[in-house]
Amino acid sequence: MALERTLILVKPDGVQRRLVGRIVSRIEDKGLSIIGMKMLQVTPELSKQHYAEHVAKPFYKDLEAFITSGPVVAMIVEGPEAITVMRTLMGKTNSRESAPGTIRGDLGASRQMNLIHGSDGPEAAAREITTYFKANEIVAAPNALADHLWAKDEE
Ligand code: RTP
Ligand code: MG
Repeated sequence: MALERTLILVKPDGVQRRLVGRIVSRIEDKGLSIIGMKMLQVTPELSKQHYAEHVAKPFYKDLEAFITSGPVVAMIVEGPEAITVMRTLMGKTNSRESAPGTIRGDLGASRQMNLIHGSDGPEAAAREITTYFKANEIVAAPNALADHLWAKDEE
């Protein structure tokens, strides 16, 4: 096990629907640490950088239009196996198939407007964190509750 960092976005639908607070609460309730956070507008250039793996796919045009349609809230989330923990908490890509109890499963019914992005692996996480955050925007304070949230050998 390892202490990991992952890049999370509350997508434009989540911001427009005033769900930022509820989504942030789900992350905090899980005991994970938010060590960077900001609101920004994704530009077409940033979208192509972020979604490089999807640029050539048929759905990319619609994806770019959606992700640039309004502000997003970007976060770096840290915790043991944070990448997988967040993907599980988010639910499946298509919100209609996401399990109840997950963020997507509880709050939406769309494949495109699925509220939240989370890095899908360590390489993507490292790349996406650098894409959205400068080093001096990361507040790497130790999690003061860590002793009550997980055992030392889980970090
Ligand atoms: P994300 O990258 O945003 O966290 O979502 P994900 O890993 O669950 O899904 P991914 O396969 O990476 O797709 C990125 C986003 O593109 C939109 N999408 N549309 N029309 C389609 O077939 C289709 N497939 C994916 C979704 O907004 C998805 O989150
Ligand atoms: Mg993805």
